[in-house]
Amino acid sequence: MGQEVSAVPETTKPENLSERSLPAVADYIKSGKARKVVVLTGAGISTAAGIPDFRSPETGLYANLAALELEEPEDVFSLPFFKENPKPFYVLAKDLYPGKFHPTISHVFISLLATKGLLYQLFTQNIDCLERAAGVPADLIVEAHGSFASQRCIDCKTPYPDDKMREHVSRAEVPHCEKCNGLVKPDIVFFHENLPSLFFDRRHMAEEADLILVLGTSLTVHPFAGLPDLAPFEVPRVLFNMERVGSLGSQPDDVLVLGDCDTGVRQLASALGWREELEAEWRKLVGDEEADRQLEGSSKRQVELHDEVSQLVHDVDKVLHVHDVSSSGSSSPSPEAVAEKEPIAATQQEVQQNESASVKESVETTTTTLTEEVKVSGA
Ligand code: OAD
Repeated sequence: MGQEVSAVPETTKPENLSERSLPAVADYIKSGKARKVVVLTGAGISTAAGIPDFRSPETGLYANLAALELEEPEDVFSLPFFKENPKPFYVLAKDLYPGKFHPTISHVFISLLATKGLLYQLFTQNIDCLERAAGVPADLIVEAHGSFASQRCIDCKTPYPDDKMREHVSRAEVPHCEKCNGLVKPDIVFFHENLPSLFFDRRHMAEEADLILVLGTSLTVHPFAGLPDLAPFEVPRVLFNMERVGSLGSQPDDVLVLGDCDTGVRQLASALGWREELEAEWRKLVGDEEADRQLEGSSKRQVELHDEVSQLVHDVDKVLHVHDVSSSGSSSPSPEAVAEKEPIAATQQEVQQNESASVKESVETTTTTLTEEVKVSGA
C-alpha cells in the first residue's frame, strides 16, 4: 500500500524533484515551486466511500455488468441504448445518485490544496459530486463527464425540474419531458457525446501546471486520458492508483504511488506537515462513524463494494429481463448465475490504450467526444 515505484531507470535524474519520492514532492511543494497544482481524478478516489468504479476486475461496474445480456457493459452509458431502454440507466442512477455517499480523505486533500491557494484546477471524471461535497470551490472544478446536478430532455433539450428528477430517481423511474414527452437524461456525458465546453476552455490549464496529481483513474477514456501528457516534460506528475496507468512513470519527474489512494494521500499530507489538519477536516465533514467505516480494513470494504455491485447488477438484470421478455422472449441469467460468473479482465483494447498513451504524440488528440478509442494526432 502506498508503495512508491518508478519505471524510469534509477540512473535517470529527475529535473525538478530531488528524487522520485513523496517526501521530495512535499519538499517541492513546500519550497513554493508548486503554485499551480492540477489534480485529475477518477472513480478510484470514491471506492472507499462505497461507490464502485468501472473497470476493477472484482468490484467494477462494467466488469460485473459484463455477465448480463448487454452487448457491451458500457451500453448503459450510451445514447442509442438509452433511447431504446432507459430503465437500466435509471436503476444504476438510483444507487449512484449524489447524497448517499460521503467524501474520502483524498477528496478533502484536494479541498485543502484549494484552501492553501495551491489548486489551479481539478478535472474530475466522476459524476458523484464528492469533490464539491468536500468543499472544493465550484469554479476550480471541471466535471469532464458531466454530473447529476442538472438534466434535460434528450429531444427538445428543455431542462427538467430538480425535485421531480430526484423523485423519479429515488424510485428508479424514467422521467419524461413536460413539454414534448421525450426522455429526460441527467447532464452526464454518454459515450460519443460531446464533453462540456468548460473542459476544452480549461484544458490548457494542464499545460500550465507546475505539478500534476492523478488519483484513482485507469486513464482509458479520452480526451480526459490525455490531460497528464499536456504538461511540459519536466513537470512532476504523481500517480496515486492501484496500478500504473497511461504514460505515468515514463518521465524523470514521475512518482508512482501504487496502492490505495487514501493511504498515499495520507503519506503526502504527513510529509507536508498537513496530516493533522487533513484528518480533522475530514472527520468534521463526514463524522466519526463514517470515517471509521472508511478506515476499516480494505478487505471489509472490498466485501461491501462487492455486495453493492452485485445488488446493482441484480437490479439491472431484472429490468433487462423484463425488457427482453416483452421484446424477444429471451431470458437473463439468475442473479446467482451472475454472481458466479468470472469477472472480466481488462480488454486487449484497454491494454493497447494504456500502451499507446505512453506515446507522447497520442495526446495531440482531436477527440471531442467521450470515447474509449485512442485518437492519435491528425486521426
Ligand atoms: P475506472 O474504473 O476505469 O478506473 C479506476 C481506477 O482506479 C483503476 O485503475 C483502479 O485500479 C483504481 N482504483 C480503484 N480503487 C482505488 C483506490 N481505493 N485507490 C487507488 N486506486 C483505486 O474509472 P475511471 O478511470 O474513472 O464515464 O473511468 C473513466 C470513465 O469511464 C468514467 O468517467 C465513466 C466510465 O465510462 C462515464 O460514465 C461517462
